Amino acid sequence: MKDSALTRKDLTARIACELETDLHSLLSGKYADAIRHLLEERGVVAFRELHLSDEQQLTFTKTLGITPQKYEVTKITMDPLENPNANYIRGAFFWHIDGTMLDVPCFASIMSSRRLSESGGQTEFANTYAAYDDLPESEKLELEGLKVVHMFEAAQRYVQPEPSFAELSKWQEHKPNTLPLVWKHRSGRKSLVLGSTASYVEGMDLQKGWALLTRLRDWATQPRFVYRHEWRVGDLVIWDNTGTMHRALPYAMDSGRLMYRTQIAGDEPFA
Ligand code: OGA
Ligand code: MN
Repeated sequence: MKDSALTRKDLTARIACELETDLHSLLSGKYADAIRHLLEERGVVAFRELHLSDEQQLTFTKTLGITPQKYEVTKITMDPLENPNANYIRGAFFWHIDGTMLDVPCFASIMSSRRLSESGGQTEFANTYAAYDDLPESEKLELEGLKVVHMFEAAQRYVQPEPSFAELSKWQEHKPNTLPLVWKHRSGRKSLVLGSTASYVEGMDLQKGWALLTRLRDWATQPRFVYRHEWRVGDLVIWDNTGTMHRALPYAMDSGRLMYRTQIAGDEPFA
């Protein structure tokens, strides 16, 4: 089969593009640099109805790798038969960045759809570079140097507001992680670090801190910064986890929705 070019269509003005090429080219890695570049530029890269097998998704993921790592396919589903940690997955209904409890978050996640829910289950992405860029200059100055303490338990409280002491103790095995509110990337670009693990702003009155974090989340998730992916079976969507936040729109625990996710390890600490 003849290799085809990589064609690109932007999906909104500020975030996401759809790519098209043939399977052979995709798995050969010949477009890996171009795709990584587009990820940083557009935040989200989508392929429609590729229908990759697990093996093919792993092969494709490896072509995009930037640092030595272990590759694996994770099943994202709330079906308790397939996923004993279904409750953790419900945390994905709230805006978040993957890996805020780590010093170095993953660079990108790659998700393909195997089974869809009858309703809900779309995935939304917000461009946190664009959200920062559009802040008034006076506000950028105010945010300079602010640090936010992230806690796993803060994210879990969205799902389970009244944990038992035993449950809370389990959540608290994850130690708090203090991160800059504005991430100054090596590239020189800046993005906002927000999301459901954000617990409080260091050194700020608690109410003022919550007001700030909530106002910035509202700001960053305005329609002009957001792309909503309406899944078809076999789609493959990649997001730059260092320059976006994401969430799933609610779907039923027993909906059967099943996604396969791989990740590309990052090499850039929050800074
Ligand atoms: C994730 C995630 C969202 C979704 O896998 O990290 O947040 O739509 N998934 O399933
Ligand atoms: Mn996630």
